[in-house]
Amino acid sequence: MAKNERFLFITGGSRGIGRAVTLSQAQSGMCIFLNYLRDEESAKKVKHEAESKGARVFLLPGNVGDPDAVASLFKNIREKTGRLDFLIHNAALGVFKPVHELRLKDWDISLDVNAKAFLTLTQGALPFMKQNGGRIVTVSSLGSRRFTPNYGAIGISKSALENLVRYLAVELAPFGIGVNAVSSGLVETDSLKAFPGFESMKKAFLARTPGGRLGKPEDIAKVIRFLLGPDADWIFGQTIVADGGYSLS
Ligand SMILES: NC(=O)c1ccc[n+]([C@@H]2O[C@H](COP(=O)([O-])OP(=O)(O)OC[C@H]3O[C@@H](n4cnc5c(N)ncnc54)[C@H](OP(=O)(O)O)[C@@H]3O)[C@@H](O)[C@H]2O)c1
Repeated sequence: MAKNERFLFITGGSRGIGRAVTLSQAQSGMCIFLNYLRDEESAKKVKHEAESKGARVFLLPGNVGDPDAVASLFKNIREKTGRLDFLIHNAALGVFKPVHELRLKDWDISLDVNAKAFLTLTQGALPFMKQNGGRIVTVSSLGSRRFTPNYGAIGISKSALENLVRYLAVELAPFGIGVNAVSSGLVETDSLKAFPGFESMKKAFLARTPGGRLGKPEDIAKVIRFLLGPDADWIFGQTIVADGGYSLS
């Protein structure tokens, strides 16, 4: 372990936005605990890429929607370090269907993985961060505040997530812990391509986006990089929108 090494735990760090965040943080002196659900091959690839940039990387598979799994992820982290500087909850899951057709199981999965996990992860990170402070960031979406067809299960869970950010930011500020979120517009990742009617949604998004293009995972990684860094020292409990200007009209 390098002297002054810093420790980062990211959920869903193996693909899409999480992959870009992992790689943007990978450098010598950074130790990354990279969580994913089941795609081991992608996780191994990102681990390899991050290590080639000088980071130490530990893969931590597990379903963050399950509080017992979260407890065992932190047990694993505890065996390697007593310190955690950064927590990023990026993983998300959910079905795409109208809200009135949701099964309770669909509701539970979204709320568990996207919102409840942010609570259990923050609670797990607290004993590590209370001593030296830290930064916690999560990823939300525009669907938390506005109607998006077939997106209700996830959108509602993201509303809870953004509110958790506000409450936790106030409660944890006295410990020197900053809590914020990034709300992303459409970013071309695997999950987006799975969305029903992706091509027509993409067209509609582009027509209303002053930025003139869909997002790239790196666009969100840059905002997260800012929120984790010293220039964001005075930002607490905010959800920063990065959407190419889509939500302006
Ligand atoms: N893409 C967009 O347009 C967009 C827009 C707004 C907000 N966002 C938000 O950005 C974040 C990342 O989205 P993305 O599009 O990059 O997703 P993605 O490409 O589908 O990747 C999802 C990642 O999360 C992991 N994951 C899923 N469920 C998990 C669970 N229960 N426990 C642990 N890991 C889990 C996946 O692991 P496996 O691969 O192993 O399953 C994968 O690493 C999400 O919070 C999403 O809501 C995305």
